[in-house]
Amino acid sequence: MNESESVRIGLIIGTTRPNRFADVPAQWLVRGAAERSDLVLEVLDLRDWPIPMFEEPAPPTATGGVYTNPVCERWRRKLVEFDGFIATVAEYNHGPTAVLKNALDSALLEWKDKPISFVGYGGVGGARAIEQLRLNVIELHMAPIRNAVHIGLDPFLGVLTKGKSLDDYPFLGTARTAMFDQLVWWARALEAARRATAVVASITE
Ligand SMILES: Cc1cc2nc3c(=O)[nH]c(=O)nc-3n(C[C@H](O)[C@H](O)[C@H](O)COP(=O)(O)O)c2cc1C
Repeated sequence: MNESESVRIGLIIGTTRPNRFADVPAQWLVRGAAERSDLVLEVLDLRDWPIPMFEEPAPPTATGGVYTNPVCERWRRKLVEFDGFIATVAEYNHGPTAVLKNALDSALLEWKDKPISFVGYGGVGGARAIEQLRLNVIELHMAPIRNAVHIGLDPFLGVLTKGKSLDDYPFLGTARTAMFDQLVWWARALEAARRATAVVASITE
């Protein structure tokens, strides 16, 4: 990948319940990404990925990252297409949603050495769930980046109850731009590092 090429980012929608708020930040991210030439965002809606609650007979670390469940196999093969990820993050009882954590558990090698950032919403902008997710993804050899977007109580309620849009909160747009900038930087850096490692491995085979 050179500087003129776009990085491919998967946007994981981290909740699946009917009437979810997640579509609001997801569409806002898609709109923001469309204004940039350095990244291409593809939505990975977990509603479209009926990944079972983890039911593998062996941990993926013991199987070389292979899953018996065909949906998990499709999921992990899809993730190969991306250089980095963003997840929308709701906070359920001060933690990440089970469906998002389960999606993370349902692939292994395909996450490795790729950056991820988070767009949280709720009482404290999803901050508590995002902090937990950062720890989880380190175990997957991902690079959680510093920049995130936190849609706190005021914009969250503004959208839900006052007919506002996230575009009415310029500080969120600033945070989105900074997050995209950092994510692209990390995606390029880690893609080059993955490529260099692959070249060295092929030479030493
Ligand atoms: C089971 C459950 C637990 C929740 N716990 C929290 C919480 O700990 N902190 C918070 O800010 N919001 C909490 N909420 C409110 C959510 O922020 C709000 O419902 C949000 O819209 C959920 O995201 P979703 O609409 O995309 O599912 C909770 C909601 C549910 C359904």
